[in-house]
Amino acid sequence: MQIIKGKKELAGAIAGLRAAGRLALVPTMGALHDGHLALVREARRRADSVLASIFVNPLQFNDAGDLDRYPRDEAGDAAKLEAAGCEAVWLPTPGDLYPPGFATSVHVAGITERWEGAHRPGHFDGVATVVTKLFTNVRPDIALFGEKDWQQLALIRRMTRDLDLGVEIVGLPTVRDADGLALSSRNALLSPAERAVAPTLNRTLDAMRTAIREGQSVAAAEQAARDALAAAGFGPIDYVAHVDADSLEPLAQAGDNSRIIAAATLGKVRLIDNRAG
Ligand code: PAF
Repeated sequence: MQIIKGKKELAGAIAGLRAAGRLALVPTMGALHDGHLALVREARRRADSVLASIFVNPLQFNDAGDLDRYPRDEAGDAAKLEAAGCEAVWLPTPGDLYPPGFATSVHVAGITERWEGAHRPGHFDGVATVVTKLFTNVRPDIALFGEKDWQQLALIRRMTRDLDLGVEIVGLPTVRDADGLALSSRNALLSPAERAVAPTLNRTLDAMRTAIREGQSVAAAEQAARDALAAAGFGPIDYVAHVDADSLEPLAQAGDNSRIIAAATLGKVRLIDNRAG
């Protein structure tokens, strides 16, 4: 597997990868788990060569402590990517993507205003800006993202269409541990006691879905979910919501295209999850 560091090196490597046919990009922030590797394996099926990027994007962290705590494991990540069948990994530096004088920010209106957008000011502009930069540097035919960050996936789809970026966006279902906890690089930061409680988030969203489908009002189901999370020790609970899967607007009634999304903190670790409504 090629390990690509600079931007010049990237251009040369991409020319070689492109010669093989369709090129897939799997953007990541490292600390890779089976969810990321599932994206690489699916990329392998859909393209002729696969390039992953690892970049802990400072622009999408609204909390400096969160950026400092973000787990990093470059050598371990490279070994996992190679085993999963990646041809190349790109490790840009902040200076590669945001050189001195960099003054542009990509903002996707609407979809980004609520939920994660409201609780993490600037986060989605950071995501949209870095994904645009990754796309314009790599020019992939296809890019793969996990559904765990549902709102992020919706904004990337919108942005790719709006800006005619010409990249096919593929979202893959969340990969979970056997007890239902969605895999996340942040899970490594949970204490053993918090790790034991964390699957309550998934179970609570499942129960909320069942309650709404069985006729409970959305408002009552949302409140019951918040109460269940608080009783399990989560707090603060940023949001638990039943929304339209594409626009992320709140949905007061059960619907065919609905999604249940939530974000809540356990100890010092903020967890997010979602499921079909
Ligand atoms: O989901 C992530 O890991 C990041 O938000 C992404 C898409 C790689 C952009 O930094």
